Amino acid sequence: MSEKRIVVGLSGASGTIYGTRMVERLVELGWEVHLIVSPSTWKVMQAEMGIEGVSPSTPLTQWLRITAGQAEHQVRTYNIRDIAAPMASGTFRARGMIVIPASMKTVAAIAHGYSDNLLTRCADCFLKERRPLVVVPRETPLSTIHLRNLLALAEAGAHVLPAMPGFYHNPRGIDDLVDFMVMKGLELLDIPHDFDMAWKGGEGRPAS
Ligand SMILES: Cc1cc2nc3c(=O)[nH]c(=O)nc-3n(C[C@H](O)[C@H](O)[C@H](O)COP(=O)(O)O)c2cc1C
Repeated sequence: MSEKRIVVGLSGASGTIYGTRMVERLVELGWEVHLIVSPSTWKVMQAEMGIEGVSPSTPLTQWLRITAGQAEHQVRTYNIRDIAAPMASGTFRARGMIVIPASMKTVAAIAHGYSDNLLTRCADCFLKERRPLVVVPRETPLSTIHLRNLLALAEAGAHVLPAMPGFYHNPRGIDDLVDFMVMKGLELLDIPHDFDMAWKGGEGRPAS
């Protein structure tokens, strides 16, 4: 298998920019991205990223900041209804899978093993094979149903990484907040990166 292969699932929660930035960053870092996008994601993307008419047939370069060469060689896209795609089986090998952002519907489906599309089936396989699965839920506030489903995911071995960026790296704008979440996802997948956002313990502050 490719040593640098990751599955990325985008679902229809707010914060589609987290998912697009994660794909862009993985590509920049030289990873092979296997991408599954839910139908609702396209609607949310249109609403909040100002990308008109985006659909599964839209070329990747029109909604991701990657080159045509990167799109051709590093990103493979799948039809979410293609339940016979390679990652619908536990025999598919990859460093990990990240669902970013994860809607409460997709969280519920993964938490309950309700694998009715390729994204949720693939996540099911990563859990059963005890391979790294990172889920980035986005909703607020959370109901007890959401909380129970997230707990079930954590108990099953997933990393639950809420889309709750920290502010201690002094973000200058939305991109810095998005990058913070992308960095946390890369770290949970054990992927080396060059983001420098770690808390420095107050280094360099004048003593007071
Ligand atoms: C603009 C917009 C924003 C949404 N934001 C969220 C959200 O933050 N969290 C969430 O769980 N669902 C959100 N939804 C609802 C989901 O898209 C919806 O539940 C959908 O069925 C999820 O399907 P999927 O998980 O297969 O993508 C949003 C929908 C729209 C249109």
